[in-house]
Amino acid sequence: MEKLVSLCRRRGFIFPSSEIYGGLSSCWDYGPLGVELKQNVKQAWWRAVVQERDDMVGLDASILMHPQTWEASGHLKGFADLLVECKSCHLRWRKDELPGDSCPSCGGELTEPRLFNLMFKTFMGPVEDEANVTYLRPETAQGIFVNFQNVLNTTRKRLPFGIAQIGKAFRNEITTGNFIFRTREFEQMEIEYFVKPGTDKEWFDYWLEERLNWYVKLGIKKDNLQLRQHTKEELAHYARECYDIDYLFPMGWAELEGIANRGDFDLVQHASFSGKSLDYFDEETKEHFVPYIIEPSAGVDRSVLAFLCDAYDEEPAEGEIRVLLHLHPTLAPIKVAVLPLSRREKLVTLAKQIYADLRRHWMVQYDDAQSIGRRYRRQDEIGTPFCVTVDFQSLEDGQVTIRERDSMNQIRLPIAELKNTLDAKLKGESLFVLPPGGKIWKEGESV
Ligand code: GAP
Repeated sequence: MEKLVSLCRRRGFIFPSSEIYGGLSSCWDYGPLGVELKQNVKQAWWRAVVQERDDMVGLDASILMHPQTWEASGHLKGFADLLVECKSCHLRWRKDELPGDSCPSCGGELTEPRLFNLMFKTFMGPVEDEANVTYLRPETAQGIFVNFQNVLNTTRKRLPFGIAQIGKAFRNEITTGNFIFRTREFEQMEIEYFVKPGTDKEWFDYWLEERLNWYVKLGIKKDNLQLRQHTKEELAHYARECYDIDYLFPMGWAELEGIANRGDFDLVQHASFSGKSLDYFDEETKEHFVPYIIEPSAGVDRSVLAFLCDAYDEEPAEGEIRVLLHLHPTLAPIKVAVLPLSRREKLVTLAKQIYADLRRHWMVQYDDAQSIGRRYRRQDEIGTPFCVTVDFQSLEDGQVTIRERDSMNQIRLPIAELKNTLDAKLKGESLFVLPPGGKIWKEGESV
């Protein structure tokens, strides 16, 4: 983890928040490369669960919601951890995470446990009194439940169908840590999938498989993923059944995504508190009923961390250690780097033309500083799948070299074929299609 945190900081993926003031505990800022990676994770998720399906639609609900939402959802009462405080050093600990009966920091005596609500409280408007209390949402899900009828009426979707949402959530966690694994402000990617009661088990199993496969398709090694069923004691107040998709993080197996069968808990609660019907009318059977909900709920930041951990690699190359991120091309922050062999004007003009052209399609970097070998290593370290090298020969034959990150294989091809070839490779086609006149060779070999 230390190596990854250092790479993320050094290369501009993730910085400690408010660093010039000494940082803010458990808060992190995504830098120029981190924001691209995070955006790519969200886009890949949206594409898989909304764009490519006809039974899903999207939503973007507000973070601040009517305070009654949190009464109805059970969060005001039930969203709490048992907390103990050290009588000597006053550090607070989660009771369920304590290894013994005394303070892990100073060995002092601990207070009796008390419930600590994890929601962040704030006030709406200028008056700070109880009537104006509201909360930062601790999950995005509630924005979906309260919009169930709105979506149903405006899209005319029939069961089974789902609503997807990506957005920030806030929890005043007692213990945070492990970089971006557990923070107080984080982003979730949540699906609430509405089904007819009785079909919930089948849809639950369907989503378990679907979500597990999503991580594998984007490059996470199968051996680093596992499903873990929640015990009765662990189940959230709303859940009938829940599995975690765990990932083998550097600190051990830990939850990446939770998939819960929430039954009709949420719609029944909101109907009762709001006085508005949240029934569904089945036109075929002429029945009214409250749908059951299957909820695959993933963390954006945890996914980013898992993709980074899984991609990180060190290998010997040409007498030194090559650090690289084997990020899936879909997730890589920079897709292509354009590298002129020298800063000679003619070469730079051609390289900049190629750079400008490719930038219309992808995030591309231009780098002309230091040796070509060093530039390749710099791109390897941030996971750039392809480098395009422009050399003196390019001025004569109109061809350039593409070098692939993982294999370090290189091919030479006409500039006119560059965009289509990169396009095919970035979409995951396993072999370069060599155009007429193209050649293939290994890094370090002469052409
Ligand atoms: N709506 C259901 C729900 O919120 P959860 O298991 O509490 O379920 C879902 O959260 C996901 O959100 C987790 O699997 C995790 O990826 C992410 N998550 C939860 N708390 C987090 C935190 N404090 N920091 C970062 N990610 C968190």
